[in-house]
Amino acid sequence: MISKFTIQKINDEARVEDVVGEFVTLKRRGSNLIGLCPFHNEKTPSFNVNPARNIYKCFGCGKAGGPIQFLIDYQQLSYPDSLRYLAKKYNIEIDEEQLSDEQKQKELEKHNLVESIHIANSFAQKFYTDFMLHNEDGGIGLSYFKERGFLNHTIEKFQLGFAPDQGDAFTKHALQNGFQLEVLKRAGLTSPKENSTYDFFRNRVMFPIHNMTGKVVAFGGRIMVKDPKSPKYVNTAESEVYQKSRILYGAYFAKSEISKKNECLLVEGYTDVISLHQSGIENAVASSGTALTPDQIRLIKRITPNITMLYDGDAAGIKAALRGTDLILEEGMNVRVVILPDSEDPDSYVRKTGTEGFAQYVKDNRKDLILFKTSLFADEAKKDPIKKAELIHDIVQSIGKIPDPIQRSVYVKECSQLFEMNEQVLITEVNKLRRRKINEQKSAVEKEESANRDKQEDFLPQNIHQEQFNQQVSNVRVLERDIIRILLDFGTWEIPVENDLLSVTAYVLDELDDIEFQTEDYKTILAIIRQEFGQGEVKDDKFFTSHEDEKIRELAIEILTDPYSLSENWWNKYKIVVPEKKFTFIKDIQSSILRLKQFLNITEIKKVEQLIKNSKDEAEQIKLMMLHKMLIEQKKEFARTVGNVIYRPTT
Ligand code: UTP
Ligand code: MN
Repeated sequence: MISKFTIQKINDEARVEDVVGEFVTLKRRGSNLIGLCPFHNEKTPSFNVNPARNIYKCFGCGKAGGPIQFLIDYQQLSYPDSLRYLAKKYNIEIDEEQLSDEQKQKELEKHNLVESIHIANSFAQKFYTDFMLHNEDGGIGLSYFKERGFLNHTIEKFQLGFAPDQGDAFTKHALQNGFQLEVLKRAGLTSPKENSTYDFFRNRVMFPIHNMTGKVVAFGGRIMVKDPKSPKYVNTAESEVYQKSRILYGAYFAKSEISKKNECLLVEGYTDVISLHQSGIENAVASSGTALTPDQIRLIKRITPNITMLYDGDAAGIKAALRGTDLILEEGMNVRVVILPDSEDPDSYVRKTGTEGFAQYVKDNRKDLILFKTSLFADEAKKDPIKKAELIHDIVQSIGKIPDPIQRSVYVKECSQLFEMNEQVLITEVNKLRRRKINEQKSAVEKEESANRDKQEDFLPQNIHQEQFNQQVSNVRVLERDIIRILLDFGTWEIPVENDLLSVTAYVLDELDDIEFQTEDYKTILAIIRQEFGQGEVKDDKFFTSHEDEKIRELAIEILTDPYSLSENWWNKYKIVVPEKKFTFIKDIQSSILRLKQFLNITEIKKVEQLIKNSKDEAEQIKLMMLHKMLIEQKKEFARTVGNVIYRPTT
């Protein structure tokens, strides 16, 4: 684990303009720098870098963050890898924390093994490619790819190759070059059987599988002629560097295009990805024949919320494939489905229609996942009441997974039309499901929290002094800002309150009662929220970040992108990862409101004390002292409640 000290140092040293400047040409404008946004296509620059705040923000697509976030979003590095990258850039020595000598030795060994496996995989890739291009016996591999229409530059880009038919040609070659047999086995390149030096891949054309940084971590090997006795593809077993569920084939080559097009095309096979890329459709990745896993979904989600899934045109496959898709909805992603014409897969179809034709087909035929699913089954269900009940249950499950209430209500409307049924029935069912779900999440979080209570204390960043922290907590401006941020961020979300679902906005406004904010800017926003709510409207963050009043707009963007707002501070800056943030924001709200009330209470007490001191009228003094007593009671009550909620980061 990288020590907090090192993280702090990196945060102090890393300059957003340096880091962004490596990838984007920036020009000075006033105190800021601007450039063309690397996250979306644009002709006039709207990508803003603010060196003073050490953040960037694109006013076109809204991407914003600091140096680390940039590396996470643009280079698709993990959080620790971003830290390492920056440490290297700024010559900061990485201080690994809390490891005993024994643990360090283990880490070192593991690190060495991982490094060795990477080197072995890269060596193998070169061997297979070399063998295909330069060895007489490898020519059949090259012919195979050529026959499939793969051009030289494609073969080169995807580092395709051929594994020879001899039993141990590769392993022998690797051993001669100093690789240890154990490493070759751990990489999955050599048969895992004890003492065997048999090659794992034999007589197959080879598709290297790359991780997000472009390193080869595994291979898929395809048989060249149909053989009922052997599988069409064999794939590397899981290893220290390859976890199937965390890799998407082609993602390394597709990531920048996915980001630019703000859409990810998901296909099934290696050859589909390759053909699409060769045709210039470079935002395609493959799940490699299995259902998408949550990790793979998050990998995509880091780049875009839009997934378009392409399925071959056979009906049996489609219904099966749709089973895993609720997971994607749950992540709040927009999922669309395209079914290709009968017996075509993306590879064959793009070769038939060409780039334009393919893109057009996708555009014309993509359907929203839920509506697609509904219409797919609706006809047969109409005649069969049992089927219909099952189907409704299914659809309700899917709709219930969508976090956005507005989107949910759109689906409810459309699906009720497709089924020719009463909308209210669907609404009731979906709400039932959501209530149950939110309650489950809540209790899961509570359990986790109590289990982690002690551990969490350790997460308190030591470099922030308690004093400073207290000061922050008691700063009314910060509290007001935090509440506004929650309203902007989660206002449309729903939380269970006394067996009902309330929007966060309704809940917060109710809790605030008639409290007025003191900070002018936040007072203005709160007034707008109250006014909209009075008219039955709950507005989301986009309403504010694109508000007609420039001041409101900027304020909203600023609040939503400020990495130093109180609760954001903890989990963003220090990556306090316990459960998913979205399940714990209820705590966030409660503790912010409570802290604000506590602050107002203390202010009020001081004021009353001053009045008592200055008062000459005995009757008035008694009145004030009774008020004081009541406020002190309140203060104690707050302290009791607050003790359970605050002074611990709510992640
Ligand atoms: P397909 O059978 O659709 O193969 O399997 P494909 O990619 O279209 O290959 P070609 O065009 O026939 O050459 C889709 C994916 O499922 C995985 C592979 O990742 C493949 O790309 N798969 C398939 C396996 O892992 N093993 C198999 O035996 C078959
Ligand atoms: Mn195919």
